[in-house]
Amino acid sequence: MLKLLILAGDGIGAEIMQEVARIAAWFIARGLPAELDEEPFGIASWKRHGTLMLPSSWAKIRAADAILFGAIGSPEYEAIPAAAKTEDLLLKMRRELDLYANLRPVRALPALEDASSLRPEVLRGTDLLLVRELAGGLYFGEPRGIEIAADGTGRAFNTLVYTTREIERIARTAFEAARTRRGRVCNVDKSNVLETFRFWRDTVVSLHRREYADVELSHQYVDNCAMQLVHRPAQFDVILTENLFGDILSDCAAMVAGSLGMLPSASFGPVDAAGTRRALYEPIHGSAPDIAGRGIANPCGAILSFALCLRHTARREADAVRLEQAVERVIAGGLRTPDIASPGSRIVGTRDMGDAILRALET
Ligand code: NAD
Ligand code: IPM
Ligand code: MN
Repeated sequence: MLKLLILAGDGIGAEIMQEVARIAAWFIARGLPAELDEEPFGIASWKRHGTLMLPSSWAKIRAADAILFGAIGSPEYEAIPAAAKTEDLLLKMRRELDLYANLRPVRALPALEDASSLRPEVLRGTDLLLVRELAGGLYFGEPRGIEIAADGTGRAFNTLVYTTREIERIARTAFEAARTRRGRVCNVDKSNVLETFRFWRDTVVSLHRREYADVELSHQYVDNCAMQLVHRPAQFDVILTENLFGDILSDCAAMVAGSLGMLPSASFGPVDAAGTRRALYEPIHGSAPDIAGRGIANPCGAILSFALCLRHTARREADAVRLEQAVERVIAGGLRTPDIASPGSRIVGTRDMGDAILRALET
């Protein structure tokens, strides 16, 4: 029995994860061997329990086969005492569960061509996988800090550090993924300027030569890649990159899909002795405070993240495809949340979108 744990979190997290819970329940009622649990997280937990996360939630997080995560971030954190928010809980989870491999698939759905700010002929045919290193780099490097001198001036610093082991394991993820796709990896770095990336690139090239010569490997500097993603996104198969670049490039790539609200992600830890890996599934967008509480957030990124959970944790490919096709059919049928609306479409809210996807699953 798979243990699925929902952490809805802040802002639109609660709204979109309600739809994910209904869809997960639909699959469970039809034979998915899983049980669904939920823990309060973030502002909702603060309001209920006076802490951003209950200490007991950690045990459930550690025991879960998959965490279904909504979003974190809210203006309400400003009112919370500094002592209660010493660390970012999402980053803590990524780090402590060693969720180093973040997969962010980006596809241009024909039905959403008119929702994108890019021209249809630019985005047409795009089907790429961004492989983002998620447990290292600037997000976690030590030393880090802000120092204020006696005269009131200061200096702040973070450390961009990657080891051979960290680079090789994420590069393996990208090469292995490419073997199941179109066989091409584009490594993205800034090796023209920074030592960390000279080492990163050399390590990727060396691993490629030793073990993955069948995969086509190319390289782009990150500034060029950002431009290429909006210029000719269809050129990419797998993009391999480090933590911060992956964060930025994936939001950029979201325009190919029409909206940030469409994109799913899956994060994995190392394979353990039993052959399983810890997993966290979350949309790539944040808590969207500008639209939170209005019931208009697009739940598709979160729902498609659950499809990735069906594929990778439950290993039920047919169910994953069924859910992905249900989402596509609903969108092709003209139903849209406001972020993907276009002339002639029917604008609906989060709940109606969930209802329509549930109906499409039945057919
Ligand atoms: P954001 O992703 O929350 O929103 C960016 C824009 O996209 C907003 O205009 C928002 O309305 C829109 N948007 C995002 N998701 C949408 C959806 N599902 N449907 C419709 N529109 C959607 O990024 P931000 O505004 O830069 O950050 C807001 C907060 O979220 C911050 O506190 C940030 O740290 C946090 N954040 C969290 C995550 C996460 O939990 N994984 C990711 C990114 C940002
Ligand atoms: C993401 C988010 C997170 C990140 C934030 C919320 C820490 O932007 O998952 O893309 O920067 O990784
Ligand atoms: Mn991001």
